[in-house]
Amino acid sequence: MKKLVAIHSFKGGTGKSYLAANLSTIYALQGKKVCLLDMDFRAPTQHVVFEPKEVKHWLNDVMNGSAEIKDCIIDCSDKIENKGKLFVGFADFSTEAIREMISKGRKWETEALQRILLMRKDLLEKLDFDVCIADTSPGIQYSSINAVVAADVAVVVSTLDDSDIYGTAKMINELYEVFQKRVAIIINKAIGGGNMGDLERAKIVDALQEKYKQAIIGVLPCYCEVGKIKRASIFSYHYPKHPFTEMLRMIAAKLDML
Ligand SMILES: Nc1ncnc2c1ncn2[C@@H]1O[C@H](COP(=O)(O)OP(=O)(O)OP(=O)(O)O)[C@@H](O)[C@H]1O
Ligand SMILES: [Mg+2]
Repeated sequence: MKKLVAIHSFKGGTGKSYLAANLSTIYALQGKKVCLLDMDFRAPTQHVVFEPKEVKHWLNDVMNGSAEIKDCIIDCSDKIENKGKLFVGFADFSTEAIREMISKGRKWETEALQRILLMRKDLLEKLDFDVCIADTSPGIQYSSINAVVAADVAVVVSTLDDSDIYGTAKMINELYEVFQKRVAIIINKAIGGGNMGDLERAKIVDALQEKYKQAIIGVLPCYCEVGKIKRASIFSYHYPKHPFTEMLRMIAAKLDML
């Protein structure tokens, strides 16, 4: 089924942007028409990965009602040597734009939600994308919650840090509950590194399943090599046989079924 997936987390730095770019790549290589949306207006990231030459319209313009999504997305399939269809909508990373987005109030955010809902419809129906992946800011501010509300599935990325587990559980059980969203959890940067076995993964899932009360669709260990490689070189494209990529492919398949 065609869908908009929002990638969110309670705390910052859990790996949302990294997973969003890599999941988009995996889907595109499978033959899906994919659109990645950088909706982290407070700390845009995807321009560093996809290095667009020229951006005429930003997603900020779509949120402000001054541009349509069709004029905002850029074909970045060359990043995967045109082996799939991968488009990206970028967030304006200028200091003024970031300051402006941070200062938006509740009224503007309510209008923005309507625009995100329209954007979702345009992307999936008019522009015929199979999967759209929205990378969001961490925490419970309106801009991220808007993306979660408009999405068909919300993926929450959590680490094993106690404060992250506590905040994530609270966010899912108190906030997500209200929206009645389909939610999937990814545990990222789990200890154990490359040696993590299935038993260790199962133990982590068992321990957290009760707290999160939502499907945990994958446990990704912390891999030093993942952190070392430059963002502009998409890991899952360049290392298709690495366990990180293989696990992410499994996650992509589970997400497909939601
Ligand atoms: N499984 C992993 N193993 C090792 N490093 C990882 C892993 N996942 C992500 N990282 C690294 O963690 C860092 C933070 O990732 P990323 O920017 O995607 O987090 P984020 O959740 O988007 O952060 P923010 O909340 O600030 O937007 C990056 O340097 C990335 O390479
Ligand atoms: Mg990010």
